[in-house]
Amino acid sequence: MSAGQRQTLMVELGDRSYPVVCGTGALKEAADKMAALCPNQRLVCVTDETVAALHLSVLERVCAGVGLLLNPIIIPPGEAQKSFSGLDNLCAKLLALEVERGEAIAAFGGGVVGDLAGFASAIIKRGTAFIQIPTTLLAQVDSAVGGKTAINTPAGKNLIGAFHQPALVIADSAVLETLPPRQKSAGYAEIVKLAALGDAVFFDWLDENGSKALSGDVSLLDEAITRSIAGKARIVARDEREHGVRALLNLGHSFGHALESLAGYEGALLHGEAVAAGMGTAYAYGVHLQLCPADDYERLIRHLAKCGLPTGLSNAPGGPYTASAMMQILKNDKKNQSGTLRLVLPRALGDAFIYEEHDLAGLEAFLRAQTGPC
Ligand code: GLY
Repeated sequence: MSAGQRQTLMVELGDRSYPVVCGTGALKEAADKMAALCPNQRLVCVTDETVAALHLSVLERVCAGVGLLLNPIIIPPGEAQKSFSGLDNLCAKLLALEVERGEAIAAFGGGVVGDLAGFASAIIKRGTAFIQIPTTLLAQVDSAVGGKTAINTPAGKNLIGAFHQPALVIADSAVLETLPPRQKSAGYAEIVKLAALGDAVFFDWLDENGSKALSGDVSLLDEAITRSIAGKARIVARDEREHGVRALLNLGHSFGHALESLAGYEGALLHGEAVAAGMGTAYAYGVHLQLCPADDYERLIRHLAKCGLPTGLSNAPGGPYTASAMMQILKNDKKNQSGTLRLVLPRALGDAFIYEEHDLAGLEAFLRAQTGPC
């Protein structure tokens, strides 16, 4: 795949299978597919102020080209929108537009817009069709594919939600040109995750090409995005509701969520940075438990560092983090079962598995050694 090329991948879910159109220019390429989901000749689209200022005119032109009127609902940016009050406001606006069950609602933005609009689409009139048009690297390679939608509550992130698969995903890498470098690196962490959990060949490719993709080689970035989406699509097709292999997509997330929760969600630590630091920690723990070769850990963290990402607890932005505070959060992780902590740990680069942790004191001592004496 070279710059300017598009590719259509399928998420195979029987009669709910859907295409993911990706690559530079995907938006224009997928316009007819979008129109087919809009029987009322309009596209009802949820976006935020930042994305609207940068990209809404492009979407409007693409819609006009296929005879669609764009009806945007523009919300403030930020994680605070993923709340009951944010959902209430959005649903009121969707109902005021008299959205019908037979027409699609589109999410045009990053993970917050996608999660919120997707959940609204799941419940408005008991469910409408849904289109994901992700505008961040993180949303393109992870959150827009697979049907997870949710809001947050004071008890934790993403605790209220639904699986609601989109009917179409359009991941146009042209919109990533305006992404700040820190956001782009953070999104790249989810690409590394896909390789680190199950695809050693892809990791080798990233080690060779990933930093070039991040520093402006569009063709390499398109390839990294496409390979990640294809990897995620395969996992979702095997385990839509996370009863098995899909849980591996949480590599780096148990430690990462603990860090995010301690840092607050105001931008001191981005989600992808938390995932990178969490992955480094999971690999370090794998080495500590003699599950994984130390060389693989070294290779992973060298690559994360080369791509401008944190590699563990001691250099994650937004710290310092303490082992005891992390343990409090880890004990309440929603992936735990019957009181047992479930961590995704490595056997090797490209080979992760679910590890049931019974030795909480041992884990806390390990974290204390990683975070330093604070
Ligand atoms: N973001 C992880 C998943 O979709 O399962």
